[in-house]
Amino acid sequence: MALWAGRFAKEVDETVNAFNSSIAFDARMYAQDIRGSIAHATMLGDCGIIEKPESEAIVQGLKDILADLNSGALAFDPHAEDIHMFVEAELTKRLGSTGKRLHTARSRNDQVALDIRLYLRDETWETARLVHQLAETLCDLAEQHKETIMPGYTHLQRAQPVTLAHHLLAYAQMLRRDLMRLRDTVERMNECPLGCGALAGTTYPIDRWQTARLLGFDKPVDNSLDGVSDRDFCVELCCALSLIMTHLSRFSEEIILWCSWEFRFVELDDAYATGSSIMPQKKNPDVTELIRGKTGRVDGDLMTLLSMLKGLPLAYNKDMQEDKEAIFDAIDNVKLCLRTFIPMLKTMRVNKENLRRAAAGGFINATDCADYLVKKGMPFRDAYKITGTLVAKCISEGLTLETLPLEAYRSLSELFTEDVYDAIRLEQCVGGRRSYGGPAPEAVAAQLDELRYELEQLRIWEDA
Ligand code: ARG
Repeated sequence: MALWAGRFAKEVDETVNAFNSSIAFDARMYAQDIRGSIAHATMLGDCGIIEKPESEAIVQGLKDILADLNSGALAFDPHAEDIHMFVEAELTKRLGSTGKRLHTARSRNDQVALDIRLYLRDETWETARLVHQLAETLCDLAEQHKETIMPGYTHLQRAQPVTLAHHLLAYAQMLRRDLMRLRDTVERMNECPLGCGALAGTTYPIDRWQTARLLGFDKPVDNSLDGVSDRDFCVELCCALSLIMTHLSRFSEEIILWCSWEFRFVELDDAYATGSSIMPQKKNPDVTELIRGKTGRVDGDLMTLLSMLKGLPLAYNKDMQEDKEAIFDAIDNVKLCLRTFIPMLKTMRVNKENLRRAAAGGFINATDCADYLVKKGMPFRDAYKITGTLVAKCISEGLTLETLPLEAYRSLSELFTEDVYDAIRLEQCVGGRRSYGGPAPEAVAAQLDELRYELEQLRIWEDA
């Protein structure tokens, strides 16, 4: 018999029941649901809305249910409509009419709005812990590669020399901003909807500040309609997750290129690569490809949430039950990707010689050659043109700027002297780029120091 049987003349159709039910995916919020109910029952007792002994019995009953669910002694009922109904029914089974008092001054609408916030707050902190771990892994790797020269690219064409440290720290900086986004998301999520009721608050003398405090929120939501009907925090979190995936995906794409035989900049550990069922020579970067693929999936979750919300009149509508599978899918996949990516990166071998070799081809010191002339007084555009002519000459004669004879240089400008070879040495090209945020080892060391300091401030899960 359904909870609302009083109003209905017959039972709800079985297919509708199954269609309506969300327990298959909201059961995972059981600990948060019970935590919210404990706070609510405590408040009801303290405010004299229910008797103190009843409030205490309810709190104890909820704690017992939590313990039994944790141990597996109690199983979820797949026929329950949702986790909220399941816990309440179980409580009533155990406590009789006392259990029936728990839902006083509450609706499932404020209850579910609370549970998702509690659940996502925990999950956001856990995600932040993993993102932080990845950023630290990159910092450690960068520490070892401040002098490892590699080509920097634009349009995937070799452009100017950088170091592997500098390249890796670019990703670490993206992750730092990802952490800030997660921190900001929690900050806006951290208002308590409990007490908003179905949509219009309640006539009981509840204390919303008490429940907010008990549950670790900064304050109660200020508008009861808003508290039960927005899911902007899900969208915001999913957006932050999409960006994390975007960053992982771009990095993955580079690793896929880097471990191809065309590049051979890195080699994945055997434990983090896979073979082919037919081609015996293959070692495939499946992990990175799967991350790239899953990025589209998380972006899809974001689209699901935005589309679900856009036409909903205030306040609660059942459409909103669709928020959970989308945001859970996004969070599960981001955590999965991070947990796999971190050890893959830690065990990846870097082929410094090949990075250096790639940097030595492709004329990535051409800008430095032009700058050499500029430093001797020539306008940049003239210097640029002369260097272009030199590069063309090198290409037609199979030479590099390093092996081109001095006479060839001087035939285009008398400003060239023997020291041009020093100016276009890759170490010199990188080492000279000391501008703030540049790739010179000392600039990268400063960046690394600052980044490590900033990451220390972003251990947001420790606020829990
Ligand atoms: N399972 C529901 C959800 O996820 C809980 C809220 C149900 N409220 C209602 N008025 N039917 O949204």
